[in-house]
Amino acid sequence: MRGILRRFLPCTLAARTAVFLLLALMAVQAAGLTIHALDRVDLQRAAMERETSARVFTLWRSMVINPPDRRAVMLAEMELPEGLEAGLDSLPWVRSGMLPAPPPVLRMVRPEILLGGPPRWRAREVQAGMGFGTLYVSALLPDGSQWVNVKLRMPPLRPWHSETFLIAFLLMTAAAALLIVWATRRLTRPVSDLARAANALGRDVNAPPMPEDGPLEVATAARAFNTMAERIRRFVGDRTQMLAAIGHDLRTPITRLKLRAEFMEDEEQRAKMLSDLEEMEAMVNATLAFARDDAAAEPSVPLDLAALCRTVLDEAADARPDAPAETFAYEGPERLTVRGRPIALKRALANLVANALNYGNAARVVLVPPQGGQIQLRVEDEGPGIPEESHEAVFQPFRRLETSRNRETGGVGLGLPIARNILRAHGGDVVLRNRPEGGLLAVATLPA
Ligand SMILES: Nc1ncnc2c1ncn2[C@@H]1O[C@H](COP(=O)(O)OP(=O)(O)OP(=O)(O)O)[C@@H](O)[C@H]1O
Ligand SMILES: [Mg+2]
Repeated sequence: MRGILRRFLPCTLAARTAVFLLLALMAVQAAGLTIHALDRVDLQRAAMERETSARVFTLWRSMVINPPDRRAVMLAEMELPEGLEAGLDSLPWVRSGMLPAPPPVLRMVRPEILLGGPPRWRAREVQAGMGFGTLYVSALLPDGSQWVNVKLRMPPLRPWHSETFLIAFLLMTAAAALLIVWATRRLTRPVSDLARAANALGRDVNAPPMPEDGPLEVATAARAFNTMAERIRRFVGDRTQMLAAIGHDLRTPITRLKLRAEFMEDEEQRAKMLSDLEEMEAMVNATLAFARDDAAAEPSVPLDLAALCRTVLDEAADARPDAPAETFAYEGPERLTVRGRPIALKRALANLVANALNYGNAARVVLVPPQGGQIQLRVEDEGPGIPEESHEAVFQPFRRLETSRNRETGGVGLGLPIARNILRAHGGDVVLRNRPEGGLLAVATLPA
């Protein structure tokens, strides 16, 4: 039952509210119109009672005041309303097997009037009975010669039989539906605004604040959201600043240590010490660069991702003049425009390409045009790949795999975390996979 309900329920808050309100409104309208219709039935019945009882009485009076030989003619000439039939007979039409007529039905003819009045008009006897939805009333004339018989087919009461009823219902529902749809969409807009703002904040801590106007609750929520965004901004800023400060302050002692190491007697120990210090210096420099980049608020602009890929590959090729041309390959559209921060995106892609070249001897960049709201950028190489269990670990800052910890490749372990940071800030991500044919595949995604 709940599953069925969920399947047919619209998914947006506005549509759901509108549906509930409309159903409630239709129920209320139906109830209101039913009350009105029942009232109409009462009126209809009262009018019918008045009409038939008056006719029956007129009929009776004309039978009483006319001489017996004129009665049949008079009866034939009488105009009777629909459903009412009358006849003169020596016997009553009311049969002994008939059911007694219930009082509300009997009221239509009011046979008791025939028993009242002056004695020369008064019926000698009145009988009433019901058969197949028809009321039979028989009254014996005062002279006792004949029975005046009346047969009334009870007309069905039709409370809904009115075009205006349906039209009114439809018009009212349509008008209310328009109002409801308009009002619910307007009322639920702040919710989608909030979702959009939260999304924007996830992509960029420096996203513009939400407007703090509108109804009280909405304004309060917007203010709370803005305060939260401000706190996150401050938190991120403080941490970056701290990172930069540590990096900066470490540089002087490292330089001093390097100078001191120069005076070491032992040749081998000195070389090791200097190499360690150089590694430390590289790490500190990378940290500083990372912090600096994070602090620089580069504006988001439309950029050509295909051109960016080609530039990164060209620059990588320039840096490795001895590498054969087929080491660098680009596959994808000529142009693909996205919104993003060009320098940051270039840095992310350059890190992936550098890894492919350093550890995989080749870099093939494949740009997949938008599909399902996503752009894919794949960087493939022909190296040893990374064991499955380390696919996430290498995204940790300063995390390098033991095997590649040699001077030659010379990284500090910030390339992948920086690339992921940048792509996530654009609303995308980057993950690693081993290619079945060997080598590593880095898949970067960006919202289209
Ligand atoms: N294409 C690849 N093939 C094999 N191993 C890789 C590949 N890319 C990265 N790795 C492994 O992941 C580790 C982390 O990479 P990351 O780019 O973060 O740092 P790095 O390349 O060592 O240093 P940096 O990029 O900061 O100069 C690398 O040290 C390497 O061991
Ligand atoms: Mg790297």
